[in-house]
Amino acid sequence: MGVEGTEGNVLSIQEVGEEIVHLTVATPTTPKPGQFYLLRAWQEAPLLGRPISVFDYSEGKVEFVFKVVGKGTEILAKLKVNDKLQLQGPFGNGFPEVEGKILLVGGGLGNAPLHATAKALKARGQEVDLRLGFAEKVYLEEEFNQAATITQLMVGGLVTDGLNIRDYDVVFTCGPHPMMEAVVKMAREAGIPSYVSIEKRMACGIGACLVCTCKTKSGNKKTCKDGPVFEGEEIFYEDKYQIS
Ligand SMILES: Cc1cc2nc3c(=O)[nH]c(=O)nc-3n(C[C@H](O)[C@H](O)[C@H](O)COP(=O)(O)OP(=O)(O)OC[C@H]3O[C@@H](n4cnc5c(N)ncnc54)[C@H](O)[C@@H]3O)c2cc1C
Ligand code: FES
Repeated sequence: MGVEGTEGNVLSIQEVGEEIVHLTVATPTTPKPGQFYLLRAWQEAPLLGRPISVFDYSEGKVEFVFKVVGKGTEILAKLKVNDKLQLQGPFGNGFPEVEGKILLVGGGLGNAPLHATAKALKARGQEVDLRLGFAEKVYLEEEFNQAATITQLMVGGLVTDGLNIRDYDVVFTCGPHPMMEAVVKMAREAGIPSYVSIEKRMACGIGACLVCTCKTKSGNKKTCKDGPVFEGEEIFYEDKYQIS
């Protein structure tokens, strides 16, 4: 199940951390921050493309940062410059356009879509701060530092420790489930809106197969089409989302 993709051409590929790969692909498609593509660089197994968020984009190219966790990402990580791959997408709603001073809180591979989001907000002239947690080592430090008004990169510990959310008008978050739940709670206490980008297993990416269904306060939603970005208060955090 799926839709025809466009063929992409690998422009660059580097390992930027342990099993963390930065891949740049030439494509005529243009995403919005917070959207994702299904990437496929194989003929048969595994059957489906793998959902990877947009780390960055500019005319004619899209960048991804992904962790090698299984067969699909292992094949993607072995691509070489000029190799071809299939890109389906961009899919998903992406982060909303909001006014005011914005805080982006990320953890693990949830940092990747926040990079593109911070850059887009900054380019619109908005004040945007990035606060990101890395498990062992910071990667792509310069890129993250340039993306926002103020960037704080933390290794280990909890990215929510010492966080003062009251300085902001809205918060976006992407990362491990307990981190996002904590950020949404802090936003609620501060009286500001929050948006979360959630991860579920996906197949078609276009709302046809229901593999990615998630329960929300306004009923079942398709993470690939209605999300992956939802209002923080909409989500039931007892659901076991698979967040990198
Ligand atoms: C909307 C969306 C955006 C994503 N963006 C990124 C990104 O920018 N960078 C990145 O590194 N990863 C991202 N992921 C996760 C990525 O899709 C999975 O890591 C990948 O599909 C695993 O494929 P695989 O064949 O290598 O591993 P598999 O062999 O399929 O699985 C290996 C392990 O990874 C886990 N896994 C599989 N699919 C997912 C999933 N959807 N979410 C979390 N864990 C999974 C499995 O439970 C298993 O433990 C995103 C997922 C979604 C849904
Ligand atoms: S992945 Fe098929 S409906 Fe979302």
